[in-house]
Amino acid sequence: MRVVVVKSLEEMGKEAAAIIADGLRAKPHYVLGLATGSTPIPVYKELIRLHKEEDLDFSPTIIFNLDEYIGLPPTHEQSYRYFMDHELFNYVNIAKANTHVPDGMTEDIETHCMVYEATIEDVGGIDCQVLGIGNNGHIGFNEPGSSLASRTRAVHLTDETIQANSRFFPTLDEVPKRAITMGIGTILEAEKILMLATGAKKANAVAAALEGPVTVKCPASALQLHPDVTFVITEDAATGITLKFRS
Ligand code: PGA
Repeated sequence: MRVVVVKSLEEMGKEAAAIIADGLRAKPHYVLGLATGSTPIPVYKELIRLHKEEDLDFSPTIIFNLDEYIGLPPTHEQSYRYFMDHELFNYVNIAKANTHVPDGMTEDIETHCMVYEATIEDVGGIDCQVLGIGNNGHIGFNEPGSSLASRTRAVHLTDETIQANSRFFPTLDEVPKRAITMGIGTILEAEKILMLATGAKKANAVAAALEGPVTVKCPASALQLHPDVTFVITEDAATGITLKFRS
């Protein structure tokens, strides 16, 4: 695993966006897995700048997002489809038909999840998956206790995650309690994984992911089983790391 420790959010955005841009430039129809949350916003800002100022071309790119709340329509400001449209897709030359976010309003969740997996497979798999990490070590909405071999499915959010997400909703009651998420097994099939973390609150989860045992208690620890993982993290999120990481 590679660990890049950066001094600022801006630097995190530039480091991670440069890795993504290299992929996009090297391979037509690059398949990019993306994440929502506060953490990747500087990366999306930098990708937009690269598109506008350095002609980074998204026209052949295919996107798969990690997750979506069950029960929120794409027009809801807290839905992850809305987030992606407003933080990235609307500002680059991507074909909307090539952007995939699980449908939180689907009437048949099981079939929808199977089709999501099959669509990823049909395009040859994900080239690079961007991840954030929850305070509890979740990746996507794979909460502690998720099978390390799990696939795209409906899950219940933990009280801790509901609490963490309540900062975006008027009341705790309005925070969705369920979501559709790619599984840990799905994530591990990506060719390359780019993990982002920032803030002291993430330090324990980052240390457990990198140095702890591989355990369902910290879903991100499953990344230790993947051959090509890069962590791009700010200094405050790196304080728990004791080892020197080599690929
Ligand atoms: P955050 O969320 O980027 O808003 O901290 C990350 C996560 O919960 O996966």
